[in-house]
Amino acid sequence: MKLKIAVLAGDGIGPEISAQGVAVMSAVCDKFGHEVSYEQALCGAAAIDATGDPFPEETLRICRHADAVLFSAVGDPKYDNDPTAPVRPEQGLLAMRKQLGLFANIRPVETFDCLVHKSPLREELVKGADFICIRELTGGMYFGEKLEGDERAYDTNAYTREEVARILKVAYEYARRRRKHLTVVDKANVLASSRLWRRVAQEMAPLYPDVTTDYMYVDNAAMRMIQEPRFFDVMVTENTFGDILTDEGSCITGSMGLLPSASTGESTPVFEPIHGSWPQARGLNIANPLAQILSVAMLFEHFGLQEEGALVRRAVNASLDAHVRTPEIQVEGGEKYGTREVGEWIVSWIRKN
Ligand code: IPM
Ligand code: MN
Repeated sequence: MKLKIAVLAGDGIGPEISAQGVAVMSAVCDKFGHEVSYEQALCGAAAIDATGDPFPEETLRICRHADAVLFSAVGDPKYDNDPTAPVRPEQGLLAMRKQLGLFANIRPVETFDCLVHKSPLREELVKGADFICIRELTGGMYFGEKLEGDERAYDTNAYTREEVARILKVAYEYARRRRKHLTVVDKANVLASSRLWRRVAQEMAPLYPDVTTDYMYVDNAAMRMIQEPRFFDVMVTENTFGDILTDEGSCITGSMGLLPSASTGESTPVFEPIHGSWPQARGLNIANPLAQILSVAMLFEHFGLQEEGALVRRAVNASLDAHVRTPEIQVEGGEKYGTREVGEWIVSWIRKN
């Protein structure tokens, strides 16, 4: 297979984890005889510095012509406390999602047995938790009509029936391939947009008789995720709720640095960690590259390259078992490995296995 990958490393720890993702991708492609090529493109604060635009035309062009985008992270503190900044790095990510029509964000929350003790939750609650959050990614408050005044401001949480139906379809298809349990998360007791979600879901549920559908208010879901994370198989929700719940989800597993995601829709799919750019760690070689490396596994799987994906996952597990880990997940007294060392270890494991 021939794979053309757009590499958007972005800001903060982005370039460091990106390099490891690319190295792992190349090692697997070598092994299976796939021809892979990369084109780097600017995004986020790095792109603002170079061009004034967080998602320049040239980057869009490179993404559109690629088979997949390997994205890392955007964000820079110099914009965070400046509400008057005319452009911000995050707009680059939002522009990419919108312009590539990436309406479905797939965020698996998988726990690693050897890391459950790192979770802030009790081990017996976390062990075996394995669910997927399907987050709608191009609608809702992120993109609805806005007013940004000094005295009054609003964001509109608008959804159309079509937007709701297409993301529910994705969710049902995932549920069918898994434990056949879908939880639709909304706030239908208060929000009109949520009542549309629920109405559409109730219409679609009979089309998937093999899947059990239940409905849960988002506040309750936030609680249930902590009380009983194993309850969930597939959850589907709107953009803002999904953003918040997946940060909570990443906590369950013990480190934010472990969770990959895929964003798919109308054009080139994007594979990226769910964590941010961690600017304080930039250049320190301490960021966990596993979320990025697992994004590469999701990329392979998206193209039906199951064995390639499985090899990446086995290599990641082997590195954890060998205690080749970045500081935040290392065992007591264990040697501290850097971003690069973890990546290099995984690459050499792939070459040997
Ligand atoms: C995420 C991030 C983004 C979001 C930010 C960086 C705009 O938090 O991918 O979850 O809010 O969607
Ligand atoms: Mn987020």
